[in-house]
Amino acid sequence: MFFPVSLGVAALAFSSSVSATVYDITVGNANGGTVFTPEAIFANTGDQVVFHFQQKNHSVTESSFANPCGLKDGGFDSGFHPVPANQTDNFPTWAITVNDTNPIWVFCNQAANTANSHCGKGMVFAINCGADGAPNSFTNFKNSALAVGARLAAEASAAPTPTAVATAAYGGVTIPPAPVGSVVTVPISVEGSVWTSVYSSYPGSPQATPASLVGNVHQVTVGNSNGSLIFDPPFIAAQPRDTISFSFRQKNHTVTQSTFDAPCLAKVGGVDSGFQPVATDATSFPVWNVTVNDTAPLWFFCEQHKPDGSSHCGAGMVFAVNPVQDSARNFTAYQGLATTLNGTNTTGGAANPSPSTTANSASAISTNLALGLGSILAVVAFAL
Ligand SMILES: *[C@@H]1O[C@H](CO)[C@@H](O)[C@H](O)[C@H]1NC(C)=O
Ligand SMILES: *[C@@H]1O[C@H](CO)[C@@H](O)[C@H](O)[C@H]1NC(C)=O
Ligand SMILES: *[C@@H]1O[C@H](CO)[C@@H](O)[C@H](O)[C@H]1NC(C)=O
Ligand SMILES: *[C@@H]1O[C@H](CO)[C@@H](O)[C@H](O)[C@H]1NC(C)=O
Ligand SMILES: *[C@@H]1O[C@H](CO)[C@@H](O)[C@H](O)[C@H]1NC(C)=O
Ligand SMILES: *[C@@H]1O[C@H](CO)[C@@H](O)[C@H](O)[C@H]1NC(C)=O
Ligand SMILES: *[C@@H]1O[C@H](CO)[C@@H](O)[C@H](O)[C@H]1NC(C)=O
Ligand SMILES: *[C@@H]1O[C@H](CO)[C@@H](O)[C@H](O)[C@H]1NC(C)=O
Ligand SMILES: *[C@@H]1O[C@H](CO)[C@@H](O)[C@H](O)[C@H]1NC(C)=O
Ligand SMILES: *[C@@H]1O[C@H](CO)[C@@H](O)[C@H](O)[C@H]1NC(C)=O
Repeated sequence: MFFPVSLGVAALAFSSSVSATVYDITVGNANGGTVFTPEAIFANTGDQVVFHFQQKNHSVTESSFANPCGLKDGGFDSGFHPVPANQTDNFPTWAITVNDTNPIWVFCNQAANTANSHCGKGMVFAINCGADGAPNSFTNFKNSALAVGARLAAEASAAPTPTAVATAAYGGVTIPPAPVGSVVTVPISVEGSVWTSVYSSYPGSPQATPASLVGNVHQVTVGNSNGSLIFDPPFIAAQPRDTISFSFRQKNHTVTQSTFDAPCLAKVGGVDSGFQPVATDATSFPVWNVTVNDTAPLWFFCEQHKPDGSSHCGAGMVFAVNPVQDSARNFTAYQGLATTLNGTNTTGGAANPSPSTTANSASAISTNLALGLGSILAVVAFAL
């Protein structure tokens, strides 16, 4: 809950207190900094403290000296005030009245109890704290908040990393486990349209922002004129709304969606070009387009079999969109799994037993499409 109070209103409310001073405090800054400016003030009973929320999504929350990053019992709390990165004026404000000269300890409650805790990064503020050198000095208060941040960061890095105990959907092969991403909410504005996208981001995730409202076009050839069992290029990075334009070459291939753990099986509900036969002497080639809707990885294979019964997929004819290349579930791992599970590749039993799987990709849910809602939806979302 918050009650934005304009400076004028704040001043009016205290018009009876002739000597009341109004202190203006900026909360955060244009660079997304996690800082109150100034960090400490000394105020008299009846004075006003007006907080001006800058970019990002901060709060002004009362704590105690002993517990700098926790809401004090019965303490005040402005609630969160999100401000988009491109907002440069009309910042929201929130005010308190100083009722006595006891110390008041304040922090930003964003990302509480996580390694991203703004308080843990030192985003604290004090009114009437002890002097420098006193036990309850601002320096001691801030150091104690930073110590909370250090503890949270240590806990996060000590958290057990997922171990490799995933198994492919068939074939009994161990594969890198599916990644766990962090959810990001981002405001997206393209060509005057604005919406909010919520997606799971991993290291290397493509941007959730489309290149344009119609997106880019990626050309991919399926097979080639000499009958090779390849996709060219074998994988691409694509943004939401991009089109992948598959051009089928000689032979009789498909572009069929699968999943990482079942590389040569059609995904239920996945997209599928169907067979696209192309004569040896063909000079024009069938095209099949797929629209990319988010930043999650997409896995594809060719469903065709050779006369001997072996599959194009087992020969390595696979394709991927947005595989996270610096993760254990990269394109090479996917192709190796296809050849291991459906091909004649007997190298090892496990396609990729590496335990250091962290990040695979981004699975993105574009909750969106409030096209043209401009200023309303502009006030959304900021990385923490
Ligand atoms: C921020 O950007 C969005 C999208 O371009 C726009 O609609 C909005 O008006 C901008 N806000 C400001 C304060 O410039
Ligand atoms: C001062 O008192 C008012 C009225 O009781 C209260 O709403 C406000 O939160 C108090 N200010 C502080 C800093 O606690
Ligand atoms: C077939 O095409 C592939 C890919 O373009 C090429 O690397 C290979 O040398 C070609 N093979 C023959 C026999 O032309
Ligand atoms: C790959 O192997 C699985 C399990 O044997 C089978 O169900 C699937 O049809 C095979 N895929 C292809 C393209 O042959
Ligand atoms: C293409 O392959 C599919 C599956 O093997 C087959 O059913 C179809 O008849 C083939 N088309 C041509 C023209 O060879
Ligand atoms: C595929 O997309 C391309 C690029 O947008 C377009 O030129 C082409 O007409 C589309 N083809 C089909 C079959 O939809
Ligand atoms: C993206 O969404 C469109 C429209 O719903 C759908 O036709 C297309 O198949 C989707 N793309 C993928 C890769 O699922
Ligand atoms: C990509 O996959 C290959 C094959 O499984 C693996 O050897 C390599 O370590 C992976 N790369 C990363 C960055 O994990
Ligand atoms: C065969 O499988 C191994 C282990 O999964 C993999 O590293 C290798 O790339 C595969 N070979 C081919 C040709 O796909
Ligand atoms: C602001 O931060 C709070 C707490 O993390 C979150 O619940 C809220 O959704 C954020 N608001 C926006 C618009 O990002």
